[in-house]
Amino acid sequence: MRNLIDILDLSVEELDSLIAVAMDIIAHPEAYREKCRYKKLATLFFEPSTRTRLSFEAAMMELGGNVIGFSSANSSSAAKGESVADTAHMISCYADIIAMRHPKEGAPLVASRNASIPVINAGDGGHFHPTQTLADLLTIFRQKGSFRNLTIGLCGDLKYGRTVHSLIAAMSRYQGTRFIAISPEELRLPEYVRQELAEKGIPCLETTSLEEAMPHLDVLYMTRIQRERFDSLEVYERLKDSYILTPEKLVPAKESLCILHPLPRVNEISVRVDSDPRACYFQQALNGKYMRMALILMLLEQKDREMPQGEEIVAPELQCDNPRCITSTEQELTHVFRPVGNGTFRCIYCEREKTR
Ligand code: NCD
Repeated sequence: MRNLIDILDLSVEELDSLIAVAMDIIAHPEAYREKCRYKKLATLFFEPSTRTRLSFEAAMMELGGNVIGFSSANSSSAAKGESVADTAHMISCYADIIAMRHPKEGAPLVASRNASIPVINAGDGGHFHPTQTLADLLTIFRQKGSFRNLTIGLCGDLKYGRTVHSLIAAMSRYQGTRFIAISPEELRLPEYVRQELAEKGIPCLETTSLEEAMPHLDVLYMTRIQRERFDSLEVYERLKDSYILTPEKLVPAKESLCILHPLPRVNEISVRVDSDPRACYFQQALNGKYMRMALILMLLEQKDREMPQGEEIVAPELQCDNPRCITSTEQELTHVFRPVGNGTFRCIYCEREKTR
């Protein structure tokens, strides 16, 4: 079954083709109005969302299809204790494609392994958010014309910001990409992300200073401090206003800078920045709809294509102990790991590492 769980499920060529289709949709929307006639998208949102859910729904409607679903865990059978696996089985009887958001990391992967229709990860905990990356990529492409030789500043909550993790994975495949990771010490990129960058030899400079990074950036990706993922509200209160982008801070920036934010913003970008021609975050939200249209078309077309699966290991001593992982709540879910070398294994759901 063809799914989109991790942005790396799409090859660079497939990303190019999604961008080409999205550009064609922008130019000729009328040609796409009947493409998904009689098809149904199920939006299973166990966590709040405005843009992602509504842009998925608008995308399916603009393709002539229909939408069913729910927008909070309370209004689904999850409130009665139904497992993600059962929900996925069951929704396969009612819809043609699923978009799922869940607070637990790996939940959409569990769904994809139990559904008989394509599953799209619409955000899983602090892990991944591949369709936001599709919106980010189309915006960068429309602004810059290419993905090569870009210095990308990632600012804010790099630990829990799932959009950042997927954007890094996607941009790491293009020549000349450099990252500047700007965050408070407590909200640095997760170890597995830093490790992967180091292994691939992709430059990633870590700093706490937005001011220092500013003159070097081609893209500035601002993010919200992810309040809902903090164990301590006190730590959140201390960190919440770490970075606030203002017109004054943009003075040393390049004329060609592209300012992105997945939204919602809380305080990270002053509304005074909105009229700056470099502010691209509202266009980014619109681009998300076009890319989701292109994605739905692609997954429905390729739905029977099997995806390659890497080596996986199940062993009694390998149990994931990450409280944010879907294995922590789904009682009967088997813990599965993949080897990453040196006797180290990574949970396939949340990336938590274990050594044997
Ligand atoms: C992001 C998310 O849900 O991760 N929002 C979105 O999908 N546009 C970013 C966020 O919530 O901060």
